Amino acid sequence: MSTNKEAWGSRVGLVLAMAGNAVGLGNFLRFPVQAVQNGGGAFIIPYLVCFVLMGIPLLWVEWSVGRFGGRQGNHSTPFILDTMGKRKFWKYFGVFGIFTNIAVAAYYTYIESWTLTYVWKSITRGFAGSSPEAVSAYFDSYTDSFMGIPVPALIIYVITLSLNIYILSKGLSGGVEKVAKFGMPMLVLFGAFLAIRGITLGPSGAPEGCTDCNSFLALDFLWKPQVSSIWDFKVWMAAAGQIFFTLSVGMGTIQCYASYVRSKDDIALNAMSAGWMNGFVEIVLGASVVIPIAVGYLGLEWAQNNAGFSMAFQTMPYLFDQWGSVLSVVAGVMWFGLLFFAGITSSLAMGTPWMGFMQDEFNWGRKKAALSFGVITLIVGLPSVMFYSQGVFGEYDYWAGTIALVVFALAEVILFAWVFGMTKGWAEINEGADITIPSFFKPIIKWVTPTLLLIVFLGALIKPVG
Ligand code: PHE
Repeated sequence: MSTNKEAWGSRVGLVLAMAGNAVGLGNFLRFPVQAVQNGGGAFIIPYLVCFVLMGIPLLWVEWSVGRFGGRQGNHSTPFILDTMGKRKFWKYFGVFGIFTNIAVAAYYTYIESWTLTYVWKSITRGFAGSSPEAVSAYFDSYTDSFMGIPVPALIIYVITLSLNIYILSKGLSGGVEKVAKFGMPMLVLFGAFLAIRGITLGPSGAPEGCTDCNSFLALDFLWKPQVSSIWDFKVWMAAAGQIFFTLSVGMGTIQCYASYVRSKDDIALNAMSAGWMNGFVEIVLGASVVIPIAVGYLGLEWAQNNAGFSMAFQTMPYLFDQWGSVLSVVAGVMWFGLLFFAGITSSLAMGTPWMGFMQDEFNWGRKKAALSFGVITLIVGLPSVMFYSQGVFGEYDYWAGTIALVVFALAEVILFAWVFGMTKGWAEINEGADITIPSFFKPIIKWVTPTLLLIVFLGALIKPVG
């Protein structure tokens, strides 16, 4: 039991912070790539099915696990899981989850730091008149460290981490909630502007001779559901991986946030609201910025062959530059600013399980806990900064950002539905609920979700997701 006495300021603040936790770089950088690589419209059905059968149940489980823990005065997964499972094993398991957070935070904040550099480059029109090759080469030289240390990238990384530490040290209502209340509306505003610009481009940006340069084609490709995909295991695996990552389940951040919800306050509706908000931002805004703009200028075939994470940094600035001096600055600031808000509201969440544990276990104060999170993240993050171009980054994303989430989620659902027990579990979820949850979710949580998680885990070991 810790002396940790935080609380959320308001319901709106809580839901925005939770939505901010979920809405992240995954929505704008990972989702479009996954969607394009898995057949566009073909991806949507598996994605939605995974959302309903694994995403929503896991959200309810994690929110109720968190609120349950908070009621006993615990705010970190090791302590919460220990109280639920009544065995030390669960405490150690919770510690494993904390290290997943550190590993993901390490590379995640690195990407977050690039967005700051790119906001600055956009304001100063650093890419004006540059060739596509030059824009792309800038990114390579910024991140490539083979011959030495990427000094500017490292400095901005440390600054970004320090900013996270500072906000975390201000606490939940004084720091995290404030950032979410400001950042989330800004993100939606910027996203909506860019999406409208992207999807209404049509064939207007088409260079001569490009027959598939038309942003309407992107919409058609992304949205026309293709039923044939439901027989493709690979697409299901990608959809499941995306659902875990985008909803931030399987790491302990949701439990930690939810542990500060008052014990009789609703979680059923709040969890759904945050989950759907994330889905909306991901499917509607996330998919409607990068891909339509890229297709408008470079063609559908090009986008399909080049869909990648680096498109956001290596291609977008060049395309924005085609929009003239004013609009290119506006679009650049909005795009990278949006990514920054998406990133920081998620990386803050990744800090809280570690901090909660330090507070629960050692009674550390908030500032000390926040600082220690920054230091350990920096140490773990250094290899991904130093050896970015050697693929270290991808390894982190696979082991921490994919496999570990599934393992954690599987164990946690078993603990909740089978060890703690579904009768008590169901009562927990429904306590104080502002909606009536259909009762068929009870067998889903007990049987379907764990079975699917097991399949995803085995499948991920055989074939890397994403
Ligand atoms: N959901 C976040 C995103 O989409 C990533 C994240 C994962 C955040 C796990 C917290 C915990 O970018």
